[in-house]
Amino acid sequence: MTTMARTCFTCSLLLGMACSIVIGAYEESLYPRKISRGNYHEAIQRLQSFKASLTTRDSIASAPSSLSPFSSPPAPAPAPSPSPLSLQGVNYPRVYHVTSYGADPTGSSDSTEALLAAIADAAKGPSEGYLMQGIKNLGGPQINLEGGNYLISQPLRLPVAGVGNLMIHGGTIRASDGFPADSYIIDLSPFSNEGNRESSSTSYNFEYITFKDLLLDSNFRGGGISVINSLRISIDNCYITHFTTNGILVQGGHETYIRNTFLGQHITAGGDKNEKDFSGTGINLQGNDNAVTDVVIYSAAIGIMVTGQANAFSGVHCYNKATGFGGTGIYLKVPGLTQTKIVNSYMDFTNIVAEDPVQFHVSSCFFLGDANIVLKSKNGVINGVDIVDNMFSGSDDGVEIVELDQSNNPFHQIEQVIVDRNNARGMKLKATVAKGSMQGNGTSWTVDFNNVLLFPNLIKHVQYSVSTPGSTFPNHILRNVSENRVVIETNKAVPASVFVSVDQSEAS
Ligand SMILES: *[C@@H]1O[C@H](CO)[C@@H](O)[C@H](O)[C@H]1NC(C)=O
Ligand SMILES: *[C@@H]1O[C@H](CO)[C@@H](O)[C@H](O)[C@H]1NC(C)=O
Repeated sequence: MTTMARTCFTCSLLLGMACSIVIGAYEESLYPRKISRGNYHEAIQRLQSFKASLTTRDSIASAPSSLSPFSSPPAPAPAPSPSPLSLQGVNYPRVYHVTSYGADPTGSSDSTEALLAAIADAAKGPSEGYLMQGIKNLGGPQINLEGGNYLISQPLRLPVAGVGNLMIHGGTIRASDGFPADSYIIDLSPFSNEGNRESSSTSYNFEYITFKDLLLDSNFRGGGISVINSLRISIDNCYITHFTTNGILVQGGHETYIRNTFLGQHITAGGDKNEKDFSGTGINLQGNDNAVTDVVIYSAAIGIMVTGQANAFSGVHCYNKATGFGGTGIYLKVPGLTQTKIVNSYMDFTNIVAEDPVQFHVSSCFFLGDANIVLKSKNGVINGVDIVDNMFSGSDDGVEIVELDQSNNPFHQIEQVIVDRNNARGMKLKATVAKGSMQGNGTSWTVDFNNVLLFPNLIKHVQYSVSTPGSTFPNHILRNVSENRVVIETNKAVPASVFVSVDQSEAS
């Protein structure tokens, strides 16, 4: 025991050292710490093109940025001076109370101008250096809604682009009946008037803007929050409802983090009699590197629509519109390069659809009410897919836990697909690995795996054994694997059992 323990300890030491060496090497190549002035931009470009090559495609290419976190600010930060503050009549700490601007917290009269004025003062207030190049660091002013309920007739926008480190929090904002259709209550859009921007050298509009503790009611006029070409936007503990387009739209940019948030077109708790009419999308991610964590989408035609890579989903509960009524929980429309993880989520009568999935991971999720995963072929490519350790529960209607939609085109490039270790209750288990056995007396044994194997007519790897009583030693051979049927033959008739394991992924 002691020797064993010591050996293992040595092993782990060695392993630990190996790991740190590997990590060290990786960091070294990716993030060279010491860069001489001359090749600085070159190095950054290499870093960025490396990242882009991993995660972007032409249609939704991540906007190239020109700086990285270890750079020094491009310009000396203007020190906040007390005079503009006193001119604005605002003192530290910079909390902009919207009622001081005349906003009506009872929600009966229009507060658009007051809210815009408070936002403008915060966004145009003193700044303290820069975040990303061209993004002024506002230093964290807060626009405080003071627990009020405000009616607005125009989207809330920041008056200048190129600012960051600001928060709007603590109240309800409702779109009026005259709110422009298809607009967003909060709109982080680019500005046509680029003259407002501090510097045009950055390609991002905003960085580190936080929306927290807000109820946004779109009043069926449009959407909740739109985040356009921005960086590190945080949407936390919000309740977004009555949208017709998207609850949240993220377009371009990266690292919008949506967490602890509830989204629903209609306020319902399931079993709504109008569920089949639900429309709109809870969260529409048209960009890379975003995360949705601990979020509930309780009403919408599509829970989350994804058209960018490297997005991550965890703790998402979708009961937006049952797939039986034509709804989808999470739709991954990134054929050919998906790069999406969905973990620890709850698909509640809503399915996951992935088109030509390439690098796609689903694990530790619970699928209820015949919800399943549909792998939809566009160009027949599926590569690097792991669907493991999930639970599925259905109503004994024979719905497959993972289903192929090959109506456009059969999958013909199938590599590294692993569907395994899932369990199903009242649904049909499907997998890419399977075990089977057969007893017989004769010269031929056929074990049919069509019932469980995901892909038709695909067995890349077989292992089998033959067990026969008595003292005979028959010759035996694997004769055929076509049509997902494994045929074993012996050279003479014997009573025997054959045990077979098959695998549809690459033989490893
Ligand atoms: C197997 O088949 C042979 C010939 O058909 C027969 O003699 C033998 O008893 C069978 N063995 C068993 C275990 O059924
Ligand atoms: C394997 O089985 C298929 C039918 O399942 C048959 O068409 C094919 O000819 C068989 N191949 C061989 C080598 O026996």
